[in-house]
Amino acid sequence: MNLVKGTTRVCGLIGNPVGHSISPLIHNALADMLGINLVYAAFQVDADDISAAVKGAKALNILGMNVTVPHKSAVINELKSIDPLAEQIGAVNTLVCDGDGYRGYNTDILGLKRELKEENISLENAEVIILGAGGVSKAIAFLCASENASKIYLLNRTIAKAEAIADSVNSYYNDKVTAMLLDDYRSIPGYGSDEKKYIVIQASSVGLHPKDDEVIINDAAFYRMTKAGIDVIYNPYETMFMKLVKEAGSPAYNGLKMLLYQGVEAFELWNNVQIDKKISDKVYDLMKKELGINE
Ligand code: ATR
Repeated sequence: MNLVKGTTRVCGLIGNPVGHSISPLIHNALADMLGINLVYAAFQVDADDISAAVKGAKALNILGMNVTVPHKSAVINELKSIDPLAEQIGAVNTLVCDGDGYRGYNTDILGLKRELKEENISLENAEVIILGAGGVSKAIAFLCASENASKIYLLNRTIAKAEAIADSVNSYYNDKVTAMLLDDYRSIPGYGSDEKKYIVIQASSVGLHPKDDEVIINDAAFYRMTKAGIDVIYNPYETMFMKLVKEAGSPAYNGLKMLLYQGVEAFELWNNVQIDKKISDKVYDLMKKELGINE
């Protein structure tokens, strides 16, 4: 355990609520393993206090901040500069010192990118189906477009939300995204065939504990056209979506690595270090222990 002393650097999380966050575990473990004298704490901040919180963090020489719901968009007004992908997405979860202010990044999406790379899943020229059009879906759609996916189908129960994301992504990446009503999934090209051609990313809240048995699409024919399935949910550790992907014979991954790597990417940005897989695997094990996962 790091000893807090006069030179100890501070990082933290602002959001509301923050009490459930696993980020303190991720960052304090990384600091400990790498021998970096840094402490990470969680700060509950009301929406009205975002500006004061960011200015205060800078005044206190805080090295870096994570930002979580509901402040990921509002914090953009408080930044000195912003990473282009985070700007496109319109959501920032990491603040990195930039002279007299902070630069904003979206490491949620850098975390997914790192997870996909580790699993040898390439978005380049890939055909992707994104299920859900909530907060994380927009970031995923931008990642897929920026990594040169050839086609992205974005399906949602409420079509207007899928259309808003599609419009936003398509304004940067010509016609990459097609918004569809969830119930119309059978009209996706290839439905009914056994051709495993789609990377499917489950980004809705369906199947989240305690509703472990629920799944956004319950149709074996849909999963037969899936070549890899990624669920952003990590509780349960194996969602019903993942089970259906596996039953169709393809690999499936949950969202815990994405959560780990959003932290790892932020830690690297703050401390100018590269974290190897041996270290991140150890942090992953600690996260599983903390969450009571025995698999
Ligand atoms: P937010 O919309 O506030 O960002 P979220 O948890 O990020 O919340 O997103 C929830 C996602 O799960 C949405 O895409 C939601 O669909 P709607 O936009 O139609 O609400 C989707 N979702 C939640 N429950 C669902 C259900 N029973 N069937 C289908 N989709 C569902």
